[in-house]
Amino acid sequence: MSQSRSPTDVAAGVREAFIVQAHACERLGSPFTAALCRVLAAGLDPANALERRVLEWPGDPSPFADSVPLRLVGALHGLVRAGRAPQLAALYPPQPLAEPQRLLAGVRSTLREHPDFIRAFLDHPPQTNEVGRSAVLIAGWLEIAARTGYPLSLFELGASAGLNLIADRYAYRFGDVPWPQTQGRAAAAAGAALTLACDWSGPLPPLDAPLQIRARRGCDRHPLDVTDPAQRERLAAYVWADQRSRLERLDAAMNVMQSAPIRIETCEAQHWLPSVLPPTSEPYVARVVCHSIFWSYLEPQAQTQIATHLATVGATASTERPLAWLRLDLAGRDEPAALRLTLWPGGTEEVLARAHPHGAWVRWRGE
Ligand SMILES: C[S@@+](CC[C@H](N)C(=O)[O-])C[C@H]1O[C@@H](n2cnc3c(N)ncnc32)[C@H](O)[C@@H]1O
Repeated sequence: MSQSRSPTDVAAGVREAFIVQAHACERLGSPFTAALCRVLAAGLDPANALERRVLEWPGDPSPFADSVPLRLVGALHGLVRAGRAPQLAALYPPQPLAEPQRLLAGVRSTLREHPDFIRAFLDHPPQTNEVGRSAVLIAGWLEIAARTGYPLSLFELGASAGLNLIADRYAYRFGDVPWPQTQGRAAAAAGAALTLACDWSGPLPPLDAPLQIRARRGCDRHPLDVTDPAQRERLAAYVWADQRSRLERLDAAMNVMQSAPIRIETCEAQHWLPSVLPPTSEPYVARVVCHSIFWSYLEPQAQTQIATHLATVGATASTERPLAWLRLDLAGRDEPAALRLTLWPGGTEEVLARAHPHGAWVRWRGE
C-alpha cells in the first residue's frame, strides 16, 4: 500500500487510522481510549525512532486491517498494568479524563522509556477473547442439546484463549432468569466464579435442556495460554482500560480456565477442521462446530474450505449422528451480531438470535 505513496501520505494514513479508532471507541462508550487515540494521532513524533516506525507503517494501519492503533494502545495499557509506567498510570482510569496535553506528555515519556516492550506489541495483531459472548453461545448449545437430546462434542474455530469453549463453567442471568437451573447445576453455579448477565428479549432458550459436554477442542492461528502469566497479561492489555466490567469478567474467566485448562491447538482453522471432524462419528453425540467473531477474519478461500467440509460431513449426518454449525458473527458495521445455526440432517440455516457483539443483550428469535 505504502510503496506508491509519499512518506507524508503514509504518515497521514497512520494518523487517520488513530482518528477512525477514536470514533469507534466513542461509539462503543470508551471516552478514555478515544482520547488516547486522538492524542496519538496528533502527537506521534517522527523524530523518535519508535514513533517513526509507527508513522512509516508498511501495510494498511486501519482498524479494519493491521489495527495499528490497538497494537499501540494495548502496549501502553500493558505497561500501565505491569506498574512500569507510573506517570501514565496516574492518568489512566479510574482517574478522571486528563487534558490532552497531560495525556500526551505521559504517553511521550512512556514511548521513549519502553521501546522494546512496545515493539513486541507492534509486531503482533491485537488478540482478544470476549467472554460476554458465552451468554449467546451457550443459548445455542442449549438449543442443540434440546433438539438432539444428545451430549455435545464441541469444536471451536478461532478460539483465542478458549474462554468461550468453557461457557458451561460460568453461571448466567438471562434477564431475570438464572442458569444453571437444575439442582446439580445450581450447586455447581453456587461455586461459579463468574456470572454473566445479559438483557434478554423474546422467548428464553430451553434452559432445562440436559446440557452435557462430552468433549471440547479448539484451534486458533495464535492461541493464548492463560496458564502463562505473560500471555494472560497480554490478553488483558488489549481490553480498553476504561472497560472495567470487560476486564473483570475476563479476569474471572481466566481464573476458571486456569483451574482446569484446555489447550487450544495452533492451526489454521481451514486445515484443522478436516483433521478433527471426519465424516464418520460416534453415535448419540451431537458434534458442534462453533465460532464467534471469526468468520470475517478468514480469506474467502478458507471460508469456502470450511463451509464445503461442513456440507460434506453434514451430508453423512443422521438423527443418531447429528452435526451442528453454530456461529456468532457481525452482520455488518454498526449492526448487531447474528447467532446462526445449521443443523444436519437437513442442513437448514436459521437465525437463532440477534445480539450485542459482547453479549450485553440478546434478542432471541429476533424478538
Ligand atoms: C476477533 S478474535 C475472536 C476470538 C474469540 N472467538 C472470541 O469471540 O473472543 C478472532 C480470532 O480468530 C483467530 N483467527 C483468525 N483467522 C484464523 C484462522 N484462519 N485460523 C484460526 N484462527 C484464526 C485469531 O487469531 C483470533 O484469535
